[in-house]
Amino acid sequence: MNMPRIDCLPDGRTIEASPGESVLQAALRSGIPHTHECGGKGRCSTCRVLVLKGLEHCAPRNGPEQAMAEQLHFGPAIRLACQTVVTGDVTLRRLVLDAEDVQITDQRGARAQPDVVGEEQELAILFADVRGFTAFAAELPAYDVVHSLNRIFNRLGLVIQRHGGRIDNYMGDGLMALFGHACPPTAAHDAVGAALEMLAAMDELQQYFRDNYGKVLGLGIGVHCGEVVIGSVGSADMKRMTAIGDAVNMASRIEEANKLLGTNLLISERTYDKVKKLVLAKRWDDVRLPGKVGPHTLYQAIGWRASFTRLQGLARNRKLLNTG
Ligand code: FES
Repeated sequence: MNMPRIDCLPDGRTIEASPGESVLQAALRSGIPHTHECGGKGRCSTCRVLVLKGLEHCAPRNGPEQAMAEQLHFGPAIRLACQTVVTGDVTLRRLVLDAEDVQITDQRGARAQPDVVGEEQELAILFADVRGFTAFAAELPAYDVVHSLNRIFNRLGLVIQRHGGRIDNYMGDGLMALFGHACPPTAAHDAVGAALEMLAAMDELQQYFRDNYGKVLGLGIGVHCGEVVIGSVGSADMKRMTAIGDAVNMASRIEEANKLLGTNLLISERTYDKVKKLVLAKRWDDVRLPGKVGPHTLYQAIGWRASFTRLQGLARNRKLLNTG
């Protein structure tokens, strides 16, 4: 009797599945490094595959796989390799290929956020928008669109966290992050530092997008400091902390001005005043922002002044950064 064959991408291997054997078991037995963080128990989803051909040869989902598929809104062609048995030939692509993919996809562990009842605070607000993503997404399968965006957001999120910020919201291919809730005096420095490093992180990601999709993507960032109301909003089971106020709108408009000026990182005058001893920037006068009255002066942040780079190397003392 011929055993079902599995064409495995991106490995370029064809393997055989024994009767009753899961796709994951067949792959591991054949030496394919198929990710399986929970050990094949149907709890992590990191063994997920996209079935490109022969979906009709995959046995129906069992209980654990069905539950995971409903939780994650998997389409019919995305299957958990650890739970899927094949009865005929299939072609599939592994979807979780490295540690960063695991970080994005692993479903184990809770993500909780404490409630904030409502308070006014001076914060630095950062808006970032992935340039060219709409056209990029139009040419890709749905899974790759979402995974690419998660890959970008994961990398940017780590930078934001490292600089003491917190992502407040995702809007399509953009995000909003807040800095200063824990330590207001350094908020502007933290936000501008994160923005500079986010641009560098995006540059690093270009290799991944070039290799996998033959495309490159850009990033536009705007930063503004101002008074906002922060609080946890939403229904009881879906609350999240957010910021409300004109300063939020202003930061968003500044980010949009990048398109107008052909820049990738703009900060408001108020933000610049807090970081000017440390940040090199080019001044732009008489900028019109949609929905805002009058001309505005913005600064294109270019990098750290050399003296600060040396200072950073000597001591990462947050108090030294408080020059605002
Ligand atoms: S290995 Fe964890 S769900 Fe398949």
